[in-house]
Amino acid sequence: MKLLEIKKYPDPILRVNCFDVEEVSFKERDLFDSMVYTMKVNNGIGLAAPQIGIAKRLIVAMDENGRIIRLANPCIVETRGSNVMTEGCLSLPGENVEVERAFEVVVVGIDDRNKDVEVKTQGLLARVLQHEIDHLDGKLIIDYRR
Ligand code: CO
Repeated sequence: MKLLEIKKYPDPILRVNCFDVEEVSFKERDLFDSMVYTMKVNNGIGLAAPQIGIAKRLIVAMDENGRIIRLANPCIVETRGSNVMTEGCLSLPGENVEVERAFEVVVVGIDDRNKDVEVKTQGLLARVLQHEIDHLDGKLIIDYRR
């Protein structure tokens, strides 16, 4: 478990379309742990692999109860409703952007034990998951600025 350097805009890695992982093995598990540690040290509630310089589809997030979600190849399969909230990003210090997102999402992916999982959630965690999945497609909150 390592504290990783968070890449800041305009680092080109933040604009990469990241690669799916074939499976979650010890290497990805180790990366997940370092991502969670780095997220917590930086008082974040979500982090995506490109933010630490790795072009893989891996995200971590924390819900309101402090429960940690680790997902590989996350994919939004269902959404419901929408709302607007101001978001920040560890890769864009000082930037705050109002972003409209789905209020509820169903996300499928692979967990840290290489099991297929489905996460159905709403509110803040749903928003964080959408924000982190955006990162995997090279999309940033400043792209939502009107
Ligand atoms: Co971000």
